[in-house]
This record gives sequence, structure tokens and C-alpha cells, in this order.
Amino acid sequence: MNFEGSNAVVTGGARGIGRTISEKLTDLGASVAVVDINKDLAESFVQELEDKGKKAVAIAADVTDTESIGSVMDQVESVFRSVDMMVNNAGVQIRCPSTEFSEKDWDRLMDINLKAVFFWSQAAAKIMIRQGSGSIVNISSGNSVKMMPGRAPYCISKAGVNALTAVLGIEWASKGVRVNAVAPGWIMTDMVKEGMRLGVVNEEQVLSITPIGRLAEPMEIAEIVVFLLSSESRYMIGQTVFVDGGWSAVGLPDMKYFRS
Ligand SMILES: NC(=O)c1ccc[n+]([C@@H]2O[C@H](COP(=O)([O-])OP(=O)(O)OC[C@H]3O[C@@H](n4cnc5c(N)ncnc54)[C@H](O)[C@@H]3O)[C@@H](O)[C@H]2O)c1
Repeated sequence: MNFEGSNAVVTGGARGIGRTISEKLTDLGASVAVVDINKDLAESFVQELEDKGKKAVAIAADVTDTESIGSVMDQVESVFRSVDMMVNNAGVQIRCPSTEFSEKDWDRLMDINLKAVFFWSQAAAKIMIRQGSGSIVNISSGNSVKMMPGRAPYCISKAGVNALTAVLGIEWASKGVRVNAVAPGWIMTDMVKEGMRLGVVNEEQVLSITPIGRLAEPMEIAEIVVFLLSSESRYMIGQTVFVDGGWSAVGLPDMKYFRS
């Protein structure tokens, strides 16, 4: 795989899975616009990439600020000359019983995890359709099909990402723009560490429903993302690929069989 001369936008690219995706893309020769609400983290990460001779630019933006998407995309296009790949990775988790969940938190989570994915895809697709080619990958979650209590808006938002991926995939396929998604299982990023710190995610429980018997490395997600971005997956449209060590395939977990 060689992305030399190709340009990518990665939202939430300064940390966790998004950071690893950005690293992988630059390793393969792409120029990457790291879009993140955390300006300092995005800038220091881009500096690190530049120090290694990679091509990247940091863009401080809140993905929910839909009015600024056009100007961010214009900025990327004017620096890079094209937008060939878009990764909608920025996402948040808010854990709270459904009886207590506030409208404010519902709106914030849905705006980041679902609404922004639609409008950033729309902005990228306008450029890609003009170019005649492009590939968009959305980061969903195993929670799009495996539901967990106390996380209703998160599960609903990620199920929405799978639907959005399918709809946009079939809508733009004939225009040269492919849309697919990756649904990760459990990865030890700050998001999951925070769940463990709060006592709402338990590593032993996670392992009991994960046949492979371990959490994923962020690179194991990034490698599937770049495959979907690349022409190697040129006949894939509207798919959500589960990269979860078997979690979504499992019915009743049975430690005896997993560990023997
Ligand atoms: N970690 C996991 O186990 C896991 C599993 C399944 C799916 N996911 C999904 O993967 C994606 C990345 O998760 P992660 O674990 O790397 O999370 P993370 O919290 O480590 O990183 C998220 C990044 O997104 C940025 N961000 C958050 N809100 C933003 C906003 N409004 N505008 C711009 N940037 C924003 C953050 O600053 C951060 O850099 C998310 O969509 C998440 O739902 C993660």
C-alpha cells in the first residue's frame, strides 16, 4: 500500500485510535490533516510527525461546529490540493443510567458521534465527487450491535453510524466515493481507561466476552482502516467491518472453550 501524493483528514486524530491511524497513514506516505478539539495535543503530535519527516498539519476544531467544516476543508484543500481520504474518528462516551441521562449530554454525544460524521462526510464527499474519487471510513463500535446498559446514546449513535455508512455508501458509489466503517472491539485507549477508572468497565469481564482473549492494539484497528481507505478494498461499499477479536460473533461466552 502506498499513499504517496494522497491526502487525508482524520478527526479526533490527536489521541488514541485516531492518532495511530494518522501515524499509519503518514508512514504510508500520505499527508494528514489532524483535526482535533485538543489544539495543544494536535500541534505537538504534528510536530512529532514533522520531526520524523512526515507530512501533516494540525487543525484545531470542534467537529460539532458544522458551520466551520467548509472553511476547514477549504484550508485542507488549499494546503494539500486534494482530499482523498476522510476518517471520521472523533467520538465520546458518556456513561449514565437512561433514567438520569440529560438532554444536554444526549445532544453533545449525538452531535459528536453521529451528526458530525454525516456533515464531515458531506463536506469531504463534495470535494471527492468533484475529484471523481475518494474514500471515507467512519469509526463505529462493537456497541453498534452489542448493547450495554448505561450507554444508550452511545450504542444508538454507533448503530446510526452503521446505517449512515450504508446509506452514504450506496448514494455515492457511482460517483467514485466509497464509504465504509470499522467497528472496533475493546482497545486500551484513554476512553477505556477512563471507564476502568470509574469502575464501569472491568477488564476480566471484557476478556470473558472476547474469544481472542486480549484487548486490541490501536494499530490493529488502523491497519483495517487503511485497507478500507485504499484501492485494495475498491469493491467494498457501505460495509461495517468488525475488528473485535470475535466479540460480535460470540453468543454465550464460555471460558472453558476460549482458553483450552
Ligand atoms: N477505545 C475503544 O475501545 C473503542 C472501541 C470502539 C469504538 N471506539 C471509537 O473509536 C473512536 C476513537 O476512540 P478512542 O478510544 O481513541 O478515544 P480517545 O478519547 O482516546 O480519543 C478521542 C479523540 O477525539 C477528540 N475529540 C473528542 N471530541 C471532539 C470534538 N468534539 N471535536 C474534535 N475532536 C474531538 C479527542 O480530543 C481525542 O483526541 C471513537 O469514535 C470511539 O467511539 C473506541
